[in-house]
Amino acid sequence: MTADPSHPFQAPWPIPDAAIQQQLQAVYSSGDWGSYAGPSTQKLRETLINNYKREHVMLVCSGTIGIELALRGVGVTAGDEVILAGYDFPGNFRCIEATGATPVLVDIASGTWSIQADDLAAAHSEKTKAVIVSSLHGGIADINAIMQWSRSVGVAVIEDVCQAPAATRAGQLLGTFGDLAVMSFGGSKLLTAGRGGAVLCNDEAMAQRINVFKERGNDAFALSELQACVLLPQFETLAERHALRRDNVNTILETTAPCTGITALNIKAEDSPAFYKLAWVLHDSQRRQDLLCYAQEKGIPLFAGFNGFVKRSERRCRKPVPLVHSTAAAEATVLLHHPVLLQGSNVIRELAGELVDVFNR
Ligand SMILES: Cc1ncc(COP(=O)(O)O)c(C=O)c1O
Repeated sequence: MTADPSHPFQAPWPIPDAAIQQQLQAVYSSGDWGSYAGPSTQKLRETLINNYKREHVMLVCSGTIGIELALRGVGVTAGDEVILAGYDFPGNFRCIEATGATPVLVDIASGTWSIQADDLAAAHSEKTKAVIVSSLHGGIADINAIMQWSRSVGVAVIEDVCQAPAATRAGQLLGTFGDLAVMSFGGSKLLTAGRGGAVLCNDEAMAQRINVFKERGNDAFALSELQACVLLPQFETLAERHALRRDNVNTILETTAPCTGITALNIKAEDSPAFYKLAWVLHDSQRRQDLLCYAQEKGIPLFAGFNGFVKRSERRCRKPVPLVHSTAAAEATVLLHHPVLLQGSNVIRELAGELVDVFNR
């Protein structure tokens, strides 16, 4: 069934925004739209430097290339190993392979869709160079434990915050814990320029390696002035929208809490997650297809999660620990897509009620 765009659950993304329209007009009038890097690009870099307290911000053409550049910044190369969760964005596995290194899978922690810190020691070898820590679907990994472990063994931490701009743990912004952070400004993302991303770090040598890799007689993976100009106003509204999504997610989680047969996101009191997606995992994966069809009939933007990497061949990756939660997540995750989360309380209450009906089906 094709979704009806006038249905209140089918909110558009991006949403109309006069400030973005004005920026586009101004960049057209000044002629900066045709420059390789102009004032908006500079201002976007400064905004990220200030928000994330990072010395080096490389604006790039996608989060995917951002992950590969971060790996190259660490110096990951053929023969190395990089740890990532068995359930993660598909590009992250491919980026490790692109460097010639071998992905090493660990599990996710239940209710977080994010890497299990306790698995890292068992996955570590003398070849381990980096670990990718993705914050997925509102989940937040035990980043303090991961940082403590990584410091003790000398492994670099790459925070993938593509889904989590403005998310915090104990008041600290995700993307400021690790050695490097990667953001995405893709078309469906909470901060969007249609395409784009950023790599952030403090280490001079890492930034240098990234810049050398990007430099092909020009900046080969750059973000354009036009993309930068539409992103700037979105930083002005980010905190307010973040809070609204969070309130609406609370309503949805409270209303759906009595439903059996699902595990919901486990939000710690100290966390303020970002909701690019809101996830549940069904206890019976066989129900997923039918349940998603039923949700779509109701106009609910509910979709299957990532396929994960559990089934990848041992020739392509190492699997030193059981991947129980990653397997369940790959088979049975359902995701609510974010645009509806900016709707008013009446729509959210109606949506929450409909989700109860879907989960009880
Ligand atoms: C966790 C995560 N990492 C990386 C990416 C890649 O970002 P991009 O689409 O900008 O390449 C995505 C995109 O959905 C993502 O969700």
